[in-house]
Amino acid sequence: MSKKKPLNVGLVGYGFMGRTHSNAYGKVNQFFDLDRRPVLKAVCGRTESNVKAFAERWGYQSTETDWHKLLSRSDIDLVDIATPNDSHAEIAIAAAEAGKMVMCEKPLGRNPAEASGMVAAVESAGTPNMVWYNYRRVPAVTLAKHIIDEGRLGKIFHYRAKFLQDWTISKDLPQGGAGLWRLDASVSGSGVTGDLLAHCVDTAIWLNGPIQSVTGMTETFIKERRHNLSGKIERVTIDDASAFLARFDNGALATFEATRYARGHKALYTLEINGENASIFWDLHDLHRLHYFDHRDEGQLRGWRSLHITDGDHPYMKHWWVPGLQIGYEHTFIHQVADFLEGLRTGKAAAPTFRDALATDLVTDAVLKSAKSGRWETVGRA
Ligand SMILES: NC(=O)c1ccc[n+]([C@@H]2O[C@H](COP(=O)([O-])OP(=O)(O)OC[C@H]3O[C@@H](n4cnc5c(N)ncnc54)[C@H](O)[C@@H]3O)[C@@H](O)[C@H]2O)c1
Repeated sequence: MSKKKPLNVGLVGYGFMGRTHSNAYGKVNQFFDLDRRPVLKAVCGRTESNVKAFAERWGYQSTETDWHKLLSRSDIDLVDIATPNDSHAEIAIAAAEAGKMVMCEKPLGRNPAEASGMVAAVESAGTPNMVWYNYRRVPAVTLAKHIIDEGRLGKIFHYRAKFLQDWTISKDLPQGGAGLWRLDASVSGSGVTGDLLAHCVDTAIWLNGPIQSVTGMTETFIKERRHNLSGKIERVTIDDASAFLARFDNGALATFEATRYARGHKALYTLEINGENASIFWDLHDLHRLHYFDHRDEGQLRGWRSLHITDGDHPYMKHWWVPGLQIGYEHTFIHQVADFLEGLRTGKAAAPTFRDALATDLVTDAVLKSAKSGRWETVGRA
């Protein structure tokens, strides 16, 4: 039996993210030396047979079908929210008020008003909190952060990010309900702006500092779809594609683009940063590589280096296999849990906190406002 202090987890939602989080809680102590041990105490979902099957597969000790019940249990320390966006605020605020630690999926809220309420709740309860912007913890992206913080790029001129998918091109795809709630803005808050660009914005703020102002455009290519819940043809309320220009506080200019209409691309998140001395490029489809160009290299040998981020001195990698062997997507969630637990030990909150994630919601909100107004919008401060 482990002598580590248990951290009893109550997970809400057992879909895509429920699986990644459960996997992370189960693996983290095998690979990281931590003083806390997550215990899969309870999972909550609305359909009893499904939630029981999930609990059986992943090793949860108990199940609930109403999240209020989960929050009222004295044997739950941490509430983990992996439900669609329309329930984040209600569950997170109630969890904080019940004195639970809270981890929440992104985007924090459907809009800044919801997200601000969530920040206020966790801060007034003084409870540890974190948002699952997991791409910060791809070792190659973490290394990019270290390289930038060391000043190797010099003054940063450009930031460029894209997140491209192609799964909603068919006009016959319905909207709403299980699996397709992302196409219904009353549940998701927005389309690709809050879903995909939120990831790009979180990484961008982390790597390059606050975003000052934006000008954006959005489009809904398919205007009507059958709604899975009403059975009727209804107007589509999300943005199918979104692109914006931005100015950072540090003077850098940026372009961001996300769409679910880029035929051939499934989850192509790319980012590039160009500085006075050096540039960085990263691509989610090749996530264990960081591309680096340094103008100060010797002339004839100067060129883009493709760094294979698998060595023991690369971020997180000493916890995994031997140099040269790659890790993948699911590991980013394990890293996030490890950092959260380490934050509990040191008392220094692991980022992104709810307040950090509010900054992202403020940017995506300004993009949507600008797409309507046709003007540059100033981004509010978290
Ligand atoms: N960090 C990432 O990279 C990433 C990736 C995908 C999704 N997400 C976010 O994670 C969240 C969930 O997305 P997903 O793809 O896992 O969705 P999903 O549809 O696969 O799963 C959602 C789950 O929530 C359950 N649920 C819905 N309402 C509930 C309620 N009231 N009580 C209990 N359970 C409820 C559903 O039954 C389902 O099990 C969203 O906020 C999404 O934006 C983040």
